[in-house]
Amino acid sequence: MNKRIAVICGDGIGQEVIPQAVRVLDAVGVRFGHVFTYEYVTAGGASIDLYGTPLTEENLNRVLEADAVLLGALGGDKWDHCPERPEKALLLLRKSLGVYANLRPAVLYPTLADISPLRSEITERGVDIMVVRELTGGLYYGQRATTADGAYDTMSYSVREINRILRVGFESAMLRRRRLTVVDKANILDTSKLWRRLASEMEREYPAVSVDYLYVDNASMQLVLHPDRFDVIVTENTFGDILSDETGAVVGSLGMIPSASLGDGAGLYEPVHGSAPDIAGKNIANPIAAILSAAMMLEYSFGLKEEAAAIRAAVEESIRRGVVTRDIARDACSATTREVGDYITRFVEVY
Ligand code: IPM
Ligand code: MN
Repeated sequence: MNKRIAVICGDGIGQEVIPQAVRVLDAVGVRFGHVFTYEYVTAGGASIDLYGTPLTEENLNRVLEADAVLLGALGGDKWDHCPERPEKALLLLRKSLGVYANLRPAVLYPTLADISPLRSEITERGVDIMVVRELTGGLYYGQRATTADGAYDTMSYSVREINRILRVGFESAMLRRRRLTVVDKANILDTSKLWRRLASEMEREYPAVSVDYLYVDNASMQLVLHPDRFDVIVTENTFGDILSDETGAVVGSLGMIPSASLGDGAGLYEPVHGSAPDIAGKNIANPIAAILSAAMMLEYSFGLKEEAAAIRAAVEESIRRGVVTRDIARDACSATTREVGDYITRFVEVY
């Protein structure tokens, strides 16, 4: 197989974790006989520094021509006061690629149970949650303005936008433990009331899926009290942003959560953790979320299931062996970003 991948390392630790994911992809290429070619694209803060804008039209077009996109992180306090923030590039990329469905899996690896801030009575029942976050609508893309005496943001969703993400939620549940939790704020918001109505209509098409409905405040509490009660969570953009960070904490580190953003064309794959300027440049960032994002790319964009499984097995082995960065190290002894990348690359090549 021959694929062109647009690679945007981006800002902060994106520059450190993405090269590790690329090494792992190359190892997959060697072992399974695929050729991945990389088109490196500048975006975010790095692009503001170079071109004065978070994403040039030419670079956007280069991304749109790729078979899939691997992205590190965009943003950082350095650009807080720029007229256009680096994050704008991310929103533009998501919208232009049309990737409305953002899948964020959170798994607690048994050997990391004591890294989770939750008590063992809670974690011993296991945590394996897929957050399906709507990614191209809602507050992120609504009309907003700063007025003379205030500011406003608006959240709106069309029936079509809600139905297509609900469909991804139901289909994901069918492939997993067949439990779907619809998260909203239907006691207040009209958009949420519509989500609930459309979800209850779609329920009839999926009799095998058991569905429940939680208000987002309650859902955030249940996530720390009974994380094992969740299988797939489907929710709108902002709620999904917030809850996916929470699931990261529950499984021990946001450095473990990969993501796939899917639509009708090329997929976008990125770790959930962001640019983490406080630890950037120190070779201590956890590359696992980036590496697992590459695995999701192989599976979802290229249909390479065995290859994705080989990456996951290598990641599990590094965790089991304790070859991990300090955010998930169980004692004082931890590995660097590059050492974790070395171990996982080698494991993929050899086993
Ligand atoms: C994420 C990030 C982004 C988001 C930011 C950087 C715009 O927090 O991918 O979760 O809010 O979507
Ligand atoms: Mn976020």
